[in-house]
Amino acid sequence: MINKIKVDGFKSLSNISLTFTKGLNVLIGPNGSGKTNLCQIFGLISANVRGRILHNILSLGGVNSIFTKSKLKGKRSINVKSKLIKIWCQGELKEERVSLRYIYSFSIRMKENIMIEKEKIVIDVEKESGIYKKAIEISQPSPNNPNKFKIKVVPKLMGPNQLKKFKKSNKNEIILKTYASNKSIFAIGSYLFKYCFMVEQDIKASDVLDIDPHIAKKPSDILEPTKMYFNGKGLSNAIYNMSKNQPNSLKAINEFLSKIYPRHKLIEPHTKDGESNTFVLVDKNGTKCFAQNISDGTIKTLGLLVGMMTHRHNTLIIEELENYLHPWACQIFINRLREISKNKVYILTTHSETILNNIKPKEVIICNNVGGGTTAVRMRDIKQLENTIKYSGFGVGYHYVGGLLGGTPQND
Ligand SMILES: Nc1ncnc2c1ncn2[C@@H]1O[C@H](COP(=O)(O)OP(=O)(O)OP(=O)(O)O)[C@@H](O)[C@H]1O
Ligand SMILES: [Mg+2]
Repeated sequence: MINKIKVDGFKSLSNISLTFTKGLNVLIGPNGSGKTNLCQIFGLISANVRGRILHNILSLGGVNSIFTKSKLKGKRSINVKSKLIKIWCQGELKEERVSLRYIYSFSIRMKENIMIEKEKIVIDVEKESGIYKKAIEISQPSPNNPNKFKIKVVPKLMGPNQLKKFKKSNKNEIILKTYASNKSIFAIGSYLFKYCFMVEQDIKASDVLDIDPHIAKKPSDILEPTKMYFNGKGLSNAIYNMSKNQPNSLKAINEFLSKIYPRHKLIEPHTKDGESNTFVLVDKNGTKCFAQNISDGTIKTLGLLVGMMTHRHNTLIIEELENYLHPWACQIFINRLREISKNKVYILTTHSETILNNIKPKEVIICNNVGGGTTAVRMRDIKQLENTIKYSGFGVGYHYVGGLLGGTPQND
């Protein structure tokens, strides 16, 4: 999972570095402080690995939106020099037999078109407990030589054909020639090395789950994917698919929903004329409610649960969980998220006092907008606040809303 990011040149993020811990990481701060911008970095990273960076930039508002705009004489205008975004992330993953750490970095530059520059992955493997050694380093070809990838690797990791080249070069370093230009380093690296493939999968498993109830309510055409999109599109297809292939997951969702909505009994998929899927919720009296009539909060809860159960995720971002949800539902959700995020990184943004009252001081990251740039820091004096909370019974939310933790709107 990705556990640290450094960014420069994206919207309000200039030269910022932020570390995430396993479990919950909760971003708080005034409107416009840059919480969403920080979350969007994860989308950019995973989109670049998927080869979907242009699509992602467009979904963020296009070239005009993503590069940091500098203030010139009181007017916002684009500083040409700043049309460069540097992104760096660090991650780790443990599988049965192997522990890896990696650093993945790239830059996005606008010249005549959007260019990805200086893409690089470095993977270390654990040799003995806690001791890591570099195993693979792959750098993107330079623009002058777009077909040549530079790969440094421990020879043991190579297949027999590549190994011959290595022995010849004698330096544990090869320049790999490929006739497919513009290939991402993962397109080459994951094909050659298992560790690189594992890291690729790990990075791809970071995304923002942002359910829009109005989209999630719509029937899904049976030609559409059986997996839900991150905005909730295709929820009906996902439920239909779960009922066929993962009945236990659907059962778990039913149990969770009945904790939040005590009248709930079960979810039933429903196919209309063999052309599209929808679903109904059946309550304890047997009354059926079609998806389009279900409340926004219930649909959002359902979408989040389906997303968490059907998407492989190691780093998951949920923005403003409180939107559409009753405070009681928020509390139950936070407890559930804390249970399932033990070995993952979950990043939440919130303005909700109720949610924050269920958050531990060490889980909080306070964002601010200082002179147009985002700052993000963990709380100081965590022990002191923990004690105050323990003896007063008033939680983080109470202290935050009272202005005692910072992260409140202020003039520059
Ligand atoms: N291209 C840009 N250059 C510089 N700053 C930008 C750019 N685009 C947006 N911003 C700034 O980013 C801020 C918005 O950040 P963001 O949407 O992440 O805030 P937020 O903390 O999520 O707020 P909210 O709580 O309202 O959701 C605004 O202050 C805006 O001026
Ligand atoms: Mg926001």
